[in-house]
Amino acid sequence: MDCHYVKKDIESLKEISAIPVTMRRVLEVLQDESASLTDLSDVIKHDQSLVHKVVSTANSPYFSYCRKINTIEQATMVLGFDLIKSIVFSIAVWRDISGKDSSYMKRLWAHSFEVAVLSSIIGGEIYEPYRGICFLGGLLHDIGRPVLYTLYKDRCSEVMDREDILSAEYEVFGCNHADTGNWFLENTFLPKEICLSVKHHHHFNGLMEHKDIVISVNLAEAMLSKLSSTAGHDGEWDANKEKIFLDAGLNNNFLSDIEYIFRVQKENLKAFFELS
Ligand SMILES: [Fe+2]
Ligand SMILES: [Fe+2]
Repeated sequence: MDCHYVKKDIESLKEISAIPVTMRRVLEVLQDESASLTDLSDVIKHDQSLVHKVVSTANSPYFSYCRKINTIEQATMVLGFDLIKSIVFSIAVWRDISGKDSSYMKRLWAHSFEVAVLSSIIGGEIYEPYRGICFLGGLLHDIGRPVLYTLYKDRCSEVMDREDILSAEYEVFGCNHADTGNWFLENTFLPKEICLSVKHHHHFNGLMEHKDIVISVNLAEAMLSKLSSTAGHDGEWDANKEKIFLDAGLNNNFLSDIEYIFRVQKENLKAFFELS
């Protein structure tokens, strides 16, 4: 398959007629630069499961806020409108674009959640305020995989269980899921650092812009292959990743801490994203 066709198909997938109604209305508001919090609240208030997930996410430790948040309005005051828009988008896109009944999608969601947790721990260690944005970068890092699955379900069976998933995707689609994720997210309202994290989550040769955030997601993806038994991994920890880890000012003590923190947090928060 030629990657130009894939890019074209992604453009048509992004057309609002192709996506479910809540997501369509959320996207319309999010892409309107003059939209206010009231506009966003009006759209999502009828979708209580979405509101619940957004408020729960704002209450999670990844956003480092101690007082209980009960409403979208409080969450916005604490985290800022830009971060709330990204949270709403991340949750809505996963829920609506990927469907609910496929075990493959459930595996991908579990994997993305784990990368989000780990990215926020690594990003927070590099610089505390990066915690929230790294969580969202991790949550969306593999969004190119459900995009490919949505468009080409049959052909995805040729790549989904391959260990060398990136080469397999090139063979079948002429591009990989980091490309398709980037094409799906480009020209949206999302902060550039999230798009760069998606685009470079496997390789980031020579990238300088928002490098610490990109590194956090990149390392989390690779490190998870050592830490988690959940299926759906597509990263690999090797000498090159270890060098990136050390060059970022992180050390082996932190690596041991991560193993502990990650296991405890993952268990505590499984129910939060309905993974159990
Ligand atoms: Fe990936
Ligand atoms: Fe991944």
